[in-house]
Amino acid sequence: MCGIVGAVAQRNIEEILLEGLRRLEYRGYDSAGLLVVNSKGHVNYLRRVGKVKELAAAVTQYNMHGITGMAHTRWATHGEPTEKNAHPHISDYITVVHNGIIENHEPLRNSLIERGYCFNSQTDTEVIAHLVNWEYKQCKDSTLLEVIKKAIPQLRGTYSILVMDNRIPGILVAVTSGGPLVIGIGIGENFIASDQVALLPVTRNLIFLEEGDLVEMTCHNINIVNKAGHLIKRPHIESNIQYEACDKGKYRFYMQKEIYEQPVALKNTLEWRLVQGQINLNELGSQAYDLFSKVQHIKIVACGSSYHAGMVARNWFEELADIPCDVEIASEFRYRKSVVRSGHLIITLSQSGETADTLAALRLSKKIGFIGSLAVCNVQGSSLVRESDLVLMTKAGTEIGVASTKGFTTQLAVLLMLVVHLGRLNGMTKSVESNILNALQELPKRIEQVLSTDKNIAMLAEDFVYKYNALFLGRGNQYPIAMEGALKLKEISYIHAEAYSAGELKHGPLALIDIDMPVIVLAPNNALLEKLKSNIEEVRSRGSHLYIFADQDASFISNKGITIIPLPYVEEIVSPILYAVPLQLLSYYVALIKGKDIDQPRNLAKSVTVE
Ligand code: M6R
Repeated sequence: MCGIVGAVAQRNIEEILLEGLRRLEYRGYDSAGLLVVNSKGHVNYLRRVGKVKELAAAVTQYNMHGITGMAHTRWATHGEPTEKNAHPHISDYITVVHNGIIENHEPLRNSLIERGYCFNSQTDTEVIAHLVNWEYKQCKDSTLLEVIKKAIPQLRGTYSILVMDNRIPGILVAVTSGGPLVIGIGIGENFIASDQVALLPVTRNLIFLEEGDLVEMTCHNINIVNKAGHLIKRPHIESNIQYEACDKGKYRFYMQKEIYEQPVALKNTLEWRLVQGQINLNELGSQAYDLFSKVQHIKIVACGSSYHAGMVARNWFEELADIPCDVEIASEFRYRKSVVRSGHLIITLSQSGETADTLAALRLSKKIGFIGSLAVCNVQGSSLVRESDLVLMTKAGTEIGVASTKGFTTQLAVLLMLVVHLGRLNGMTKSVESNILNALQELPKRIEQVLSTDKNIAMLAEDFVYKYNALFLGRGNQYPIAMEGALKLKEISYIHAEAYSAGELKHGPLALIDIDMPVIVLAPNNALLEKLKSNIEEVRSRGSHLYIFADQDASFISNKGITIIPLPYVEEIVSPILYAVPLQLLSYYVALIKGKDIDQPRNLAKSVTVE
């Protein structure tokens, strides 16, 4: 992952770089570093373990200034999150920041050690710095750009890097081999970063680089050489992204704020698409009509929570739209041969639109015969949005907490509307459509009701604080929600949690059941409820405490060993969306009581931009 930002200017850039890093922190927050060179050629260099605020405090303390430089926020891949492993990495006068992975770093490191280089870190990045330094020494009259051209073919992997020669302030060289990089064009100054949001405080005039691009950037010039070695012009794009300065308002954590924003996020996602008693996705344009009329199969590809949303959508597509659909984790899909059928559409789901595996899956789909791609995404201008044939945006607003909440529920809402849109072409009746439409319209109110019971869930959370494990059970469309609940609990409270389809219990997991294993059951009143009740009895008779989330009018009674958490009634079709919310609250409160870093849990990042 990691976020990188660079600037070549005629004014002090350290605050620009720091603000860029703050906006890129979603890509990693293990450590951060910055190097700037001032107009007299003096180098200022600082690295700190921890978040960008640690680095910012140090920059103020040391009163650093510079007009050319680069900065980095790290998500450790090679080497622990220590100061020595933090970027930038330097080899004499060569400075490098890097996002991605150099896969052949080991042989390169060995060969550079043989050539006399000493390594100060465990990172793959330091290999780049020494390699560029070595190539520089081999051809003393070459420019930095020419030297980097020699180094690139020796690097394998997906990466983006910035390089500078500290002796020559005013020039930055950048390379992208699959990792995102965007240039920001200023007046007499230029910038570069992993994501446009880092550049918006200084410019909206952008150039998105493409795989294999090599750039030499000064205050007044930007030269781009493409993969084939040709000097080329890439289009300038005026960014229309609204970067919401995300204030926590009355909330303690972004995750908390984002959970409570769900009724509004859903309204924003739904309102303008539910018009005159119809679900209207005309925003997709006529191109969509042609494409959809050919669709015979759907493949959904995603990671993490988005994958769980995909699992729910798979059931919806098959049940309501009669379209065969399968769903796959992006990191699996991209590395196996899959059979692409005639009329096969790929749907990618991603809150961030920058998840490396999901992007790679999309790119692969273009080579292996899918008829087209549709992305459901929350971030305007993200790579997934730019590279997909069709796009449906969720309108969740910026999601900052690492644990996805409103991103997930709005994804589900958009997917359900898409199911109706495609189902219509496959003969879905008006009455089915209007039931779904009504259920969707009711949803924000029902979620508000769930949120108003937060105190009960906070009390419930106390039961989990000293537990080491938890089991989540659901059937049908509640199974992916059980998976989502388990993921939430794992990632922010560090309690080991697993989800099972309740029918699978007796095939193994039942062996885990004892008084130390709380079992959370999702039990809306649906056709599978009677079956689920049998599964519940199997657990109860073996001593686990059961926490059953059920319709308020269902026939469950709190009893010894059973706690019932009543939820408002909603139409079965939208119940996965509603049932996700109390599970978010539960994991939030468990993590809160345990005193965890809820918005930035250990070892994770908001956007997973490496594979
Ligand atoms: O941005 P994306 O939806 O592509 O992200 C996918 C996963 O990385 C993400 O859902 C992750 O699992 C979250 N931390 C879950 O809360």
